[in-house]
Amino acid sequence: MNGPEIKIKLSYVTGLKPVVLGELKELNLETIGEDIDSIFVEFSEDNIREVKKLRSIARAYLITQSDIYHPMYISNHKSILGNLIDIVVKYDSFKTFKISCAGPDSSEVRGIAKYIQDTYRMKEGDEADLKIHIIKPEDIWEIGIQITPRPLSVRDYKVANMSGAMDPTVAYAVNSFCNLDSAHSYLNVFSGSATLLIEAAQCYPNLEKLIGFDNNKKHLSLSIKNIKKAGLIKRVQVKEADIFDKPDLGIFDAIVSDLPFGMLISKNEDLEKLYTTFIQYSENALNNSGRLVIYTSEYELIEPILHKSQFKIVQSLHLKFITNVDAYLRPKIIVCEFK
Ligand SMILES: C[S@@+](CC[C@H](N)C(=O)[O-])C[C@H]1O[C@@H](n2cnc3c(N)ncnc32)[C@H](O)[C@@H]1O
Repeated sequence: MNGPEIKIKLSYVTGLKPVVLGELKELNLETIGEDIDSIFVEFSEDNIREVKKLRSIARAYLITQSDIYHPMYISNHKSILGNLIDIVVKYDSFKTFKISCAGPDSSEVRGIAKYIQDTYRMKEGDEADLKIHIIKPEDIWEIGIQITPRPLSVRDYKVANMSGAMDPTVAYAVNSFCNLDSAHSYLNVFSGSATLLIEAAQCYPNLEKLIGFDNNKKHLSLSIKNIKKAGLIKRVQVKEADIFDKPDLGIFDAIVSDLPFGMLISKNEDLEKLYTTFIQYSENALNNSGRLVIYTSEYELIEPILHKSQFKIVQSLHLKFITNVDAYLRPKIIVCEFK
């Protein structure tokens, strides 16, 4: 007897849906449904391989849903979970597992954990490779397994993580608004640990000139480690420079920036002055037909500056993140062209 359908569930940062749909289309991955901040695609061996290439997705899961899949039912029908695990372990090596479920100490969930230990010789642990969930997000139970040990948004090139570094899926999204398929040159102002630069270099081999600058030596050295790990040291340049010195780096087809903000980055800076200088600098350094794409939580500060500038806002995307201190961050991606 066939059980409910197995699907691939792709979850993304709140607000990135248009970017995700664009990327799925590029990879010819058809969507078969959606949920809050997630999209479903059909399960197939090919699709499992393809979804691992997605750059706008935070996490990918293999899931199945049914009204009856509560922990008690799963503990009595462990093969439902076993079927999912059997698929996922074909593609990656998993040594430890974790079950996220209400009542983790109940006899049902303990029974499921023992089954996984005995059948798959994995150990239970908090920082586990195999992440299993049994949840009821809306009105239907869902059991699922993350298909990779680490989230898809974790990139191999991140050897050095700086506080305030960008989520790589958001960096991919920012770049996707720059018309980079037809661009030759790309500038990242306030380059930090180089997430935007590396994502751009990896996705757009046509870019000939990729430059970033930052005034913080520590951040520059972190960025060089990441760029080296990505094997891009010959293609991506980072320079030490302060925006207030208006470094002369030439004219670019695209300028991107994850603006410094708040206490993390520029505690004593006058942000309004910094942003005004940045916009004036971009007016001089951007090609007439180029795009300026800004990522910032301080949109209330930058938008009036943009309105007074030579730029017009052609698109903006409002995102929402939960930070590790359980607070919300509501940044925007703001896409600009010359008026
Ligand atoms: C939000 S962070 C960029 C993070 C980066 N997108 C990443 O993924 O790592 C902003 C950066 O602006 C730099 N910065 C702050 N004030 C600056 C200034 N006046 N001139 C140049 N860079 C500056 C900081 O050192 C910091 O690295």
